[in-house]
Amino acid sequence: MTTQLSRHQTDAGTASAPPVPEVDPAAVAAFAERCVGFMNQGAIALLISVGHQAGLFELMVRHPGSTSRQLADTGHLDERYVREWLAGMVTAGIVRYHPDTRTHVLPPEHAAVLTESAGPDNMAHLMQYIGVMGRVEQPIVERLQHGGGLSYADYPDFHRIMAQESAAVNDASLIDGILPLVEGLPERLEAGIDVADIGCGSGHAINLMAAAYPGSRFTGYDFSADAIATARREAAEWGLANARFEVLDVAALDVSEGFDAITAFDAIHDQAHPAQVLGNIHRALRPGACS
Ligand SMILES: C[S@@+](CC[C@H](N)C(=O)[O-])C[C@H]1O[C@@H](n2cnc3c(N)ncnc32)[C@H](O)[C@@H]1O
Repeated sequence: MTTQLSRHQTDAGTASAPPVPEVDPAAVAAFAERCVGFMNQGAIALLISVGHQAGLFELMVRHPGSTSRQLADTGHLDERYVREWLAGMVTAGIVRYHPDTRTHVLPPEHAAVLTESAGPDNMAHLMQYIGVMGRVEQPIVERLQHGGGLSYADYPDFHRIMAQESAAVNDASLIDGILPLVEGLPERLEAGIDVADIGCGSGHAINLMAAAYPGSRFTGYDFSADAIATARREAAEWGLANARFEVLDVAALDVSEGFDAITAFDAIHDQAHPAQVLGNIHRALRPGACS
């Protein structure tokens, strides 16, 4: 069934207002409900991110059946806020509440998705990106009006969250799962080759490879000075003499036949000039390089 919401008629012969389309009220109501859902789900994602960063999910796994007071005391958190967060989690159907004892439980099925036990599949890491995007809302509104660009520096926390997320993946599978996908690469790494990582971020992948293959030499490139500082710190903590890092825009990478293998984890799609970067990578590879 359709109905007409309103219609403004103009005098015959004068310019007319655009016709008001007929709408299906059931479709309007259904879409309005979806919009409420967008808002609710976005708010829940933020609450998950808050709980993740405050360590509340891990705390709930270690102390199942706790009151808000017990969780706050154990985690050195403010009870009033913990109670409010728990109420949101209960309303969202993520945490179960037992009113008789005023205790809370994170069901094991939910813990398997929102805690470190999920390894690289920990969805709580991902929820942090909603807050990251929220931080650039106003600059984006302004860019829509006036044009211009944003840089990584406009996304505070990006490198910290990215490093957390990719470390979970790389710790679980870089050495034994991802590198062997390239035929012969583990053997050549063992024998000793020169490797670069393009857009290495906080450098964990380079450091893992350098630790696993002390006979090879590794260089990480990224244009974020903060990320490179984190990478160098970890390399120093691990005592790696075969890992080095350079702050560099890889669109300007000027190396000829310097490497036997070049990796790029999650970095090519971010390029402002992808063809140029791929050309630079090609030039930087030695003949017979792993590909
Ligand atoms: C999605 S992140 C991936 C980081 C890292 N490879 C990882 O897996 O954790 C993309 C990275 O590429 C870097 N990047 C993007 N464009 C770059 C460029 N032109 N030169 C150097 N680094 C760049 C960013 O600073 C960021 O660290």
